[in-house]
Amino acid sequence: MTEAGKIPRRLRSQDWFDNPDHLDLTALYLERFMNSGVTPEELRGGKPIIGIAQSGSDINPCNRHHLELAKRLRDGIRDAGGIPIEFPTHPLFENCKRPTAALDRNLAYLGLVEILYGYPLDGVVLTTGCDKTTPSALMAASTVDIPAIVFSGGPMLDGWHDGDLVGSGTVIWRSRRKFAAGEISREEFLEAALDSAPSIGHCNTMGTASTMNAMAEALGMSLTGCAAIPAAYRERGQMAYRTGLRAVELVIDDIKPSDILTRAAFLNAIRVNSAIGGSTNAQPHLMAMAKHAGVELFPDDWQTEGYDIPLLANVQPAGAYLGERFHRAGGVPAIMWELLQANKLDGSVPTVTGQTMADNLKDRESTDREVIKPFAEPLKERAGFLVLKGNLFDFAIMKMSVVSEDFRRRYLSEQGREGIFEGKAVVFDGSEDYHARINDPALGIDERTILVIRGAGPLGWPGSAEVVNMQPPDHLLKRGIVSLPTIGDGRQSGTADSPSILNAAPESAAGGGLAYVRTGDTIRIDFNQGRCDMLVDDGEIERRRADGLPPMRPSATPWQKLYRQTVTQLADGATIRDAEQFRQIAKTPPRH
Ligand code: FES
Ligand code: MG
Repeated sequence: MTEAGKIPRRLRSQDWFDNPDHLDLTALYLERFMNSGVTPEELRGGKPIIGIAQSGSDINPCNRHHLELAKRLRDGIRDAGGIPIEFPTHPLFENCKRPTAALDRNLAYLGLVEILYGYPLDGVVLTTGCDKTTPSALMAASTVDIPAIVFSGGPMLDGWHDGDLVGSGTVIWRSRRKFAAGEISREEFLEAALDSAPSIGHCNTMGTASTMNAMAEALGMSLTGCAAIPAAYRERGQMAYRTGLRAVELVIDDIKPSDILTRAAFLNAIRVNSAIGGSTNAQPHLMAMAKHAGVELFPDDWQTEGYDIPLLANVQPAGAYLGERFHRAGGVPAIMWELLQANKLDGSVPTVTGQTMADNLKDRESTDREVIKPFAEPLKERAGFLVLKGNLFDFAIMKMSVVSEDFRRRYLSEQGREGIFEGKAVVFDGSEDYHARINDPALGIDERTILVIRGAGPLGWPGSAEVVNMQPPDHLLKRGIVSLPTIGDGRQSGTADSPSILNAAPESAAGGGLAYVRTGDTIRIDFNQGRCDMLVDDGEIERRRADGLPPMRPSATPWQKLYRQTVTQLADGATIRDAEQFRQIAKTPPRH
């Protein structure tokens, strides 16, 4: 279906491989590329050259099976008349990269921009999985704006331990509390954690990985149903083949990220994130993707568009089940089907399938109502992010889908936004300080305490760390108090089930109000007004300013230094400042 003759225009790659004006250079390009086994006839034949942005490796184990799946991507690309060219991306392994993989998201973005722009690629398949592999890839695809399609790796199989489902990350937070309360041994802690990872794939909870792959699908950037297929299922390989086919068609039809990534698509994604109980990391990542797509997205959109959406997915950490059951229940399309029926989704948006989102969602109603709830009978009402501001920060979010009924009763009225909570702050400068002092009786932490952590934002950490979900001291855990309100300028794991106020911007290291709060101050959280303030008068705050900012560690690597010089705050996506001025750069071919 894709003989060269059918492509109505000259392909980008022909500027390298079939350029009579630069015969000498064309000869050089052809000669070297043949090392991968392709022939000059293929390269010069005007066939679409499709990059496979390979995110899997031994050091990116959540995505490692993409090394195998790429074979099916290649089959699809070949059968559609394209030429696959696979190349590695900068690894982004959430669990193991120190001080945090957040530091590397912008680095991976930069690297991929250079590859997509500077090499003879007509389109690209973005292989994704682990948390930041999805946003970094979509950010880059937007900047360059060649036809692109997301191919998710899929979650691990469901984990079981002692007859209970144990989900990635979530099991760690829950076991950590049980261990501190003396309910389980060290060995049981480790065994439960290891049992949560029974196969290839990314985290099987609705953590940041599953969330961001769902966001890619909700944006219209992957084939329908792609996000949730477990990594080990045969459907995953079939989805690879179809994605490969479609990648070539996208080039033929010249469908680019800029045709799909509109404001309407991003608002759809925000609403889907509420309905799946998605990760708070979706906030900076969607913001970053929108920026590079040239789409205006506002920090308050999370509140105005997302807050009132109910929780429909009964998946950990907000619910009970894991990735396999979610997929069998219909996955992301079934969630979107509910939102579409309820008029909470713009079904008219175009997608990489070539059809509108509404077309994609035909007959996608879930048949498993234990796992995917009808919109009218949700797991929880108002499950989106609450947006807060005050004299501690201009912006922070709170993920309401994981706020327990007990906590809601304690602090919220039935309308959800009312309720005022005041507590005494206990302030930690970074996670080392928290670990060193959390059990110190002198801090007098009780059930009315608000735990504050700072120095954990993009500048402070650097990179912004998932440390805001601090657990209460052991003496409270032993009394069954499993969560205290926490506030911080860092993030929290998408797998955490803590009632945290996080992603605060500006961060303390940038001179935000968190820099001037002191242990013992009263903090008032007014859910009704969406405010969070330290009850300290302005004069006193001014006096504290004279003390300067909390100390920040020096940069340890060249990139840390460059990152700090260029990064924006979490409210703005923690992007590279001014990088969004580079838009659709593939329109201008790179010079020879
Ligand atoms: Fe990679 Fe969770 S650590 S997906
Ligand atoms: Mg994470």
